Amino acid sequence: MTRTSQISRAAVGAARAASRPSSGSPGGQFAASFKQTQSPAAQGLAPRNTPSRTTPTLRQPTRQLYNFSTVSLPTAHISSSHNIRNMTTDFKQQPHKLLVIPGPIEFSDGVLGANAAPGMSHVSPAFIPVFGDCIRMLRKVLYAPKGQPMLIAGSGTLGWDAAAVNLVEPGENVLVLNHGYFADSFADCLRAYGANVDELKAKVGGIVDPKDLEQALQKKKYKLVTITQVDTSTGVLAPVKQYSEIIHKTSPNSLIAVDAVCAVASEEIRFDDWGLDVVISATQKGLGVPPGLSVCMLSERAIKTMEAATAFLPTTSRGSAGSPS
Ligand SMILES: Cc1ncc(COP(=O)(O)O)c(C=O)c1O
Repeated sequence: MTRTSQISRAAVGAARAASRPSSGSPGGQFAASFKQTQSPAAQGLAPRNTPSRTTPTLRQPTRQLYNFSTVSLPTAHISSSHNIRNMTTDFKQQPHKLLVIPGPIEFSDGVLGANAAPGMSHVSPAFIPVFGDCIRMLRKVLYAPKGQPMLIAGSGTLGWDAAAVNLVEPGENVLVLNHGYFADSFADCLRAYGANVDELKAKVGGIVDPKDLEQALQKKKYKLVTITQVDTSTGVLAPVKQYSEIIHKTSPNSLIAVDAVCAVASEEIRFDDWGLDVVISATQKGLGVPPGLSVCMLSERAIKTMEAATAFLPTTSRGSAGSPS
């Protein structure tokens, strides 16, 4: 049985987010400093068992990658010497044909003008507060005071790879809740890294029945369950909170990864309260800045899993740990 689904506002209206002033919304505030983040990471991205992949120093079994929540980061980049808002007041983009798709969306003058900021080394001490602002603001947008943001040069799709390679070992079971094309592709990505993937497919325009999810979890153990919060192909908004409650109740050890590329800063996501482990997004949709960064949030459970993984996708952690390089 398929429950009546809700079509996401994000799928039909994300473009409107671009017209928000950069200081007037979580996404806009985020955008104002986010644009300067140029991650040095996203290297070594290759499937398991690929001989050319080399990340020797990062593959120690006892590594501890993320302890940023305990680090006190410098603050107030935006109101300091790099006052982006002041720098960009005069910028006006040329009249142009509007881009009316879920993303990349139309960008505000403030965001585009901010891209004209002077260059900054991503391994300099000056970059630390910029990165710190991004971390803090992303935690706000996702209601994730305990979450660990991860920013990688790339796009949303890269978040699928990051989840597949860091959280699942070849042969482990993954359940994909499928509401359309983007779940098909996430499933393909997981299979490419060796996961044993089952899918619960909804009828086009519908959602997976929560009872089917419960039954699937009772029948088999899954290391990871994936949910696409808004599958952009159908516009269907998944009941992430409800699914998450079922997963926690029926299969408490399963990790929960949410593809929220088309939902972050457009739909409600309460990362900590809903008990999510991974949220995957990108800059060019609700966050309202140009494409170029894969934006993820990780739970403590996800980080522990990642630290124990046999393969590893290098990510940028240095800036938020308070050290430039
Ligand atoms: C739900 C969803 N997931 C993943 C992606 C892929 O994101 P990207 O194009 O940033 O790689 C998209 C892109 O539209 C999407 O809508």
